Amino acid sequence: VTSDITVDALTAAAGSPELADIATPFLVVDLDAMERNVERMAAFFRGRRANLRPHVKHHKCSEIARLQMNAGAAGLTCATTDEVRAMADAGIGDLLLANVVTDRRRLRSLASDARRATVTVAADSVKSVQMLSEAARSEQAEVGVVVDFDIGLHRNGVATVEEALQLADLVRAMPALTFEGVMAYEGHLVAVEDREARATAVAAAFEPVATLVRELEANGFDVTMVTGGAASTYESVGQLPFMTDVQAGSYVLMDASYARLVPEFEIALAVVATVTTARAGRPVVVDAGSKRLATDWGTPVLHGFESEHVATSEEHNRFWVHEPRLPAVGERVAVVPGHSCPTVSMHRRLFGCREGRLERLLDIDARDPLA
Ligand SMILES: Cc1ncc(COP(=O)(O)O)c(C=O)c1O
Repeated sequence: VTSDITVDALTAAAGSPELADIATPFLVVDLDAMERNVERMAAFFRGRRANLRPHVKHHKCSEIARLQMNAGAAGLTCATTDEVRAMADAGIGDLLLANVVTDRRRLRSLASDARRATVTVAADSVKSVQMLSEAARSEQAEVGVVVDFDIGLHRNGVATVEEALQLADLVRAMPALTFEGVMAYEGHLVAVEDREARATAVAAAFEPVATLVRELEANGFDVTMVTGGAASTYESVGQLPFMTDVQAGSYVLMDASYARLVPEFEIALAVVATVTTARAGRPVVVDAGSKRLATDWGTPVLHGFESEHVATSEEHNRFWVHEPRLPAVGERVAVVPGHSCPTVSMHRRLFGCREGRLERLLDIDARDPLA
């Protein structure tokens, strides 16, 4: 559910006269909606024990990160060392890399950034801790470590409280590392449709984290960070009594998938595409396909039209569009991605619009440089 104002602003941005010479597909952001989203999430965390530490993987844009910091974020969460580099370049001083890094080149990059910013990173094996310590030592840096604890996603993370305690012991013993605490990411629960069921499942998934934190403290560890959370779980994760840093990302620009899960945030991002084919009795075809619009999660939505998504190919998406409003060949339309994060990383900049007029360009400056 989005407000009419947002729908109008995105549709207007797609047809903005200042953007008429930009070839489709490209990304527009409704700055008003984005700013309201940033403020809404920041307001939830004001006065709470847990801090908001927004995940920049979502927008990969240091200018938006700065906006989030100005709204009260405690620091930022990154997924890659390139994101850490871009945020440190932008002068942001407190960065969590919520990921396990074992590539030597990336470890060097991370350790060198730890000389100019407070950097904390996840680790989930003896080898990952040893490699991190080696990199930090050779860069003469101090790196913070959170032990990544698997609470059901089965991606990174140690499997048991015992294993987590052993790894914490190792971190404490290794040179150039500081033990900070625990990371537990509930990625397997972020798309549970029913909000109450989602909150209940989140509370249950985090029970072993409470046990781990208690055990760590009983063993003399100073647990300064306990981190996890996402845009669709910020309320339940943000109210856990032991949580310190919530890694919500997608609330800023949103997408068609998250719009169903957390409708209190507005859709602020669209891919502007041009209609190539609109034949009676056939789906409408637009010129934005999987090379510019991610389709790994959810399906794209043709904004402002009564329609269903039919298919995606490399340079096209097809939608069944119902009367009364049908798009015409050559018309520019706004397509809301099913998944914004990977969509953004397929572009170089965001065209920031207000009330349908171009206001400024936002560089997507934390993208990975291609090898
Ligand atoms: C480690 C980690 N933390 C947090 C998030 C939440 O991000 P979002 O709010 O965009 O779903 C993700 C998403 O993939 C993640 O991988």
